[in-house]
Amino acid sequence: MRWPAGADFEILDQRALPGREVFIPLRSATGTAHAIRDLAVRGAPAIGCTAAFGIAVEALNAVDVPPAMFAARLEAAFVELAASRPTAINLFWALDRMRAAWKTCAAESTRSVATRLRAEAQTIFDEDIAANRRMGEFGAMLVPDGARILTHCNAGALATAGHGTALGVIRSAVAAGKKVEVFADETRPVLQGARLTAWELHRDGIPVTLLPDVAAASLLASGRIDLVIVGADRIAANGDVANKVGTYPLAVLARRHGVQFHVAAPRSTFDFSMPDGASIPIEQRGAGEVLGYGTERWAPDVPVFNPAFDVTPAGLVSTIITEDGLIPGPDASKVAAFRVGATVRETRIR
Ligand code: MRU
Repeated sequence: MRWPAGADFEILDQRALPGREVFIPLRSATGTAHAIRDLAVRGAPAIGCTAAFGIAVEALNAVDVPPAMFAARLEAAFVELAASRPTAINLFWALDRMRAAWKTCAAESTRSVATRLRAEAQTIFDEDIAANRRMGEFGAMLVPDGARILTHCNAGALATAGHGTALGVIRSAVAAGKKVEVFADETRPVLQGARLTAWELHRDGIPVTLLPDVAAASLLASGRIDLVIVGADRIAANGDVANKVGTYPLAVLARRHGVQFHVAAPRSTFDFSMPDGASIPIEQRGAGEVLGYGTERWAPDVPVFNPAFDVTPAGLVSTIITEDGLIPGPDASKVAAFRVGATVRETRIR
C-alpha cells in the first residue's frame, strides 16, 4: 500500500496477483471496507493498516463539512470498517488506535483532526514494519542453516505493512546468511499460498516449492520438513491461535511427526480479552469460493462449509515469535507475562 503526498491512497490489488500488479485507489471508507471484504487486501496486519488509512481518507474527504457532520461521517466510517471482516483482531486494534487518536484532538478543526489521523495511520504502518523486522530477528534464531520450512497461506509482505511475519522470519534468516528451502501450501480455496507466497518468495530468489494442501501429510511423513512457520489472525489469552483454515491440521501433523510448529505474530494480533480460541469469531465465506474459482464453476450447487480460519490449540504450538521476544510453549501464564511486557526468551521448545 502507498499514499504519496498529493495523491490517492492506493493498495496493490492482491486478487490480480500473480498475473498482474495493479494498484487501486481507495477514496472512501466504504471503498476501503469493500476492498477488505473482497480480499483486494488481506492478511491480518495489512487489514489493520488499510482500515487505519481508510479512516484518514474519510476524514480528509469531510474536512469541509460542519464539525457535527464530520464527527458523524467518521463514526459511520468506524462502523463500516469494523464490519468488513470479523476474525483478524488487528483490524479492531487499528480502529481503536485511530479512535483514541481522534479523541485526543476532537476539539480541534476538522482539518487538524484529519491531518492527525493520517499521521496516526502512517505511524501504525511504520510500527508494523519495525515489529516485523524485530520478529524476524528473534524468529531467525529458530531457523537452522539448511532448514526446510513449511508454511501456509500468506504471512508475507503482502499480508503486513512490509517484510512479513512468517515470511519475515524466513527473510531475516536468509539475510543472516542461512540457506533455507520453503514449501508453500497452495491454501485452498483462495490460493494465497500459490498466488501470493510463491510469488513473494520467487521474486526474492528464495527457493520455494508449491504443494497442494492435501500433500502436507506425506511431505511431513517423508522427513523432508524441519519446521513449520505460520502467521496468525488472532491469538487468545491462553495462546490458542486462529489462522487460515488448514493451519490446525498442519499443527497436528507437525506434532505427529516431531516437527517444530512456530507462529509469528505481532503484539497487535493478541486478543487478551478472549480467554481461549473457542471464543474467537470465525469468518464463514461464500459458497462460490469452494464451488469454483472466479467465474468458473466445477461443483453442482450444493451447500458448502467454508470457514476462512481455524483454531490451533496452544498445546500444539512450539513457539510464538513476537517483536518483543519468543514465547516458547505458550500458555495462559506466559501470554499474561508477555502482556505486561515480560519478554520470554528461554529456549526450551516443545
Ligand atoms: O483470509 P486472509 O488471506 O486474510 O487470511 C490471512 C491469514 O490467515 C494469514 O496467515 C494471517 O493473516 C497472518 S498475516 C501476517
